[in-house]
Amino acid sequence: MQRRNFLKNSSVAAAGLISAPLITSCANETSSKAETTHSTKVIRPIAICTWNFKNATAKAWEVLSEGGSSLDAVQQGGMVEEADVTNKTVGVGGRPDRDGNVTLDACIMDKDGNCGAVLCMQNIASPVSVARKVMEDTPHVMLAGKGAEKFAYEKGFEKTNLLTEQSKKEWLEWKKTSKYKPIINIENHDTIGILAIDKNGDLSGACTTSGMSYKYAGRVGDSPIIGAGLFVDNEIGAATATGVGEEVVRTVGSFLIVELMRQGKSPQEACEEGVKRIMAKNKDRTDFQIGFIAINKKGETGGYCIQPGFSYRTYSEEGHINTPSDSYLKA
Ligand code: GLY
Repeated sequence: MQRRNFLKNSSVAAAGLISAPLITSCANETSSKAETTHSTKVIRPIAICTWNFKNATAKAWEVLSEGGSSLDAVQQGGMVEEADVTNKTVGVGGRPDRDGNVTLDACIMDKDGNCGAVLCMQNIASPVSVARKVMEDTPHVMLAGKGAEKFAYEKGFEKTNLLTEQSKKEWLEWKKTSKYKPIINIENHDTIGILAIDKNGDLSGACTTSGMSYKYAGRVGDSPIIGAGLFVDNEIGAATATGVGEEVVRTVGSFLIVELMRQGKSPQEACEEGVKRIMAKNKDRTDFQIGFIAINKKGETGGYCIQPGFSYRTYSEEGHINTPSDSYLKA
């Protein structure tokens, strides 16, 4: 119980300084199509990501539309967000832990069930790219901390300062007032999980994040954990998560969503069921956020979140579509 409270409090303490989540209004380009994107409409190739990371899906679509693989598409889409210093929850510019160190988590998974992940890695700008190297160049699935960083240097990645002046300023402000004391709030996450299906009908996924703002040093959430933050089964579909990683880990969330699709649920129904199961274990809590997105083998998509305000973005031959997701609390 103590541990639960600590984690809850560490996340909520951070939230006071976090800018509003990417609550993406249903933009003009999207509104007419929003209703169709989590229906049974089959669209492929297609890239889909959590939140409104339109540059990420645009990049993924560029890869897919040129005949590239879903694996390249999700990696390159993820890299776009990792390089964006204005994004405070992914890659360079991500918010640091309590000690002022930016530590990054990422994973990637391909059509054959191959996967790679890095956990709590510092000084490397693109953890999703290192995760892919782990997958392709080692017999392992996960590398953590100093080992992951050392491996990245061996693979030619450069040492990069991930803490921007802006993130440092905000962290120093947080330190003045927080005193590591709890503040009740809702933890808002903008982790990017990105899924794609290519012209061959093959699925891949990636997930990358700097994790909870001002987390305890060494904390790792769901994002680099295969089955929790991401899961791909090329026969069935793929799913990925955003939000409070501890809750997603407890339910092996993304694996659950894919298994629900295996049992015949649509991506939308599977995401809803996954969220409801998490809420069933947290009956008295409304102070955290979790969202899932999913795609099935046919190219149908869906997304659902505990809190209102979540959206997901798809990019296909139909163009950009930003779909506001339904939410459990609204339902
Ligand atoms: N979902 C990202 C994290 O909890 O770190």
